[in-house]
Amino acid sequence: MKILAIETSCDETAAAVLEAEGGLANPKFRILGASVASQIPVHAPWGGVVPNLAKREHLANLPLVLEEAFKGRSGLEPDLICVTVGPGLEPALWPGIEYAKELKKEFSGAELLGVNHLEGHLFSFLLSEKTKKPGEFKIPNLNKLFPAIALIASGGHTTLLKVESVKKWKKLGETRDDAAGEAYDKVSKMLGLPYPGGPELEKLAAIGNPKAINFPRPMLADPNYDFSFSGLKTSVLYHLRDNSNAKKEDVAASFQAAVVQTLAGKTERAAKKFGARSIFLSGGVAANKNLRKTLDRMANKNKLEFLAAENRFNTDNAVMIGVAGYLAYLRKKRLPLRANGALNI
Ligand code: KG4
Ligand code: ZN
Repeated sequence: MKILAIETSCDETAAAVLEAEGGLANPKFRILGASVASQIPVHAPWGGVVPNLAKREHLANLPLVLEEAFKGRSGLEPDLICVTVGPGLEPALWPGIEYAKELKKEFSGAELLGVNHLEGHLFSFLLSEKTKKPGEFKIPNLNKLFPAIALIASGGHTTLLKVESVKKWKKLGETRDDAAGEAYDKVSKMLGLPYPGGPELEKLAAIGNPKAINFPRPMLADPNYDFSFSGLKTSVLYHLRDNSNAKKEDVAASFQAAVVQTLAGKTERAAKKFGARSIFLSGGVAANKNLRKTLDRMANKNKLEFLAAENRFNTDNAVMIGVAGYLAYLRKKRLPLRANGALNI
């Protein structure tokens, strides 16, 4: 099956063309073309994403990313057109959906399918192992992976799930306030780092002492799978206010240690409680080396598989939308083709 996928839920305009086979039992993917246009320079002066600017940029960038994704493949007729319908910023989602509807007119033989962005992140674990063929990924042995505990940590969400199969999963908990990526972005702003904050803060943290300041590990001891990062953010704010000589790299490293230990601690507890055989990590924050290393070590210690795709499939992209779209199509899941900013998983 040939799939064309489009993603515009936040500040990345992305398109991808992929080939999928194997069905729900052995899903396998090959990327034929993929492109992401980042809007960082547009939003940077505002210190965060401005929804109407994102909309304008998506409209301008969609034809360009599509052309790039189709490069060398002119004449390819997709069987399925996948587009993110939520969650995300509604003014950003609309142009993607409208564009996909126009493409459906051009490729009249294709089915048009709305995709949940969070399912895109969740299923990016299927892209964690490359084969020798360019763009092709190994099918993980699904029989050995489930049940799995999946942690999605992005700018908008921090969600822990129990995954039984590619057809069945259950949300165990999520953040009650700020998402992990949002906390990274806000704390990096306090430290005077440029937008987007996550990667910048990680760089600074790498040269700091993670034990310098004992920031709270929010809700780590609570007997549930929810998160809360807003109080931690406030602790950092107070620390900076009360310690004018604070070393920024130590604040960054200590903040990161609190976030990573909280995420890893709750994930480990869920894995033990539900007898998981593997851990999946996804979402923009999964690009963080410290978090990946900590979860990998925890998985090893508990004799679990650890699956996380490379960074370009964790930060927002269209390949993961094509992957989740293929599975949703097979599950006969049909979401309404309209922007739903508050869609959950
Ligand atoms: O999944 P994503 O690209 O967009 C959403 O769906 O939200 O996630 C973006 C988030 C941002 O908050 C960004 O700061 C964070 O992921 N992020 C990171 C890193 N790279 C991106 N956070 C920590 N360390 C990183 N290396
Ligand atoms: Zn995302």
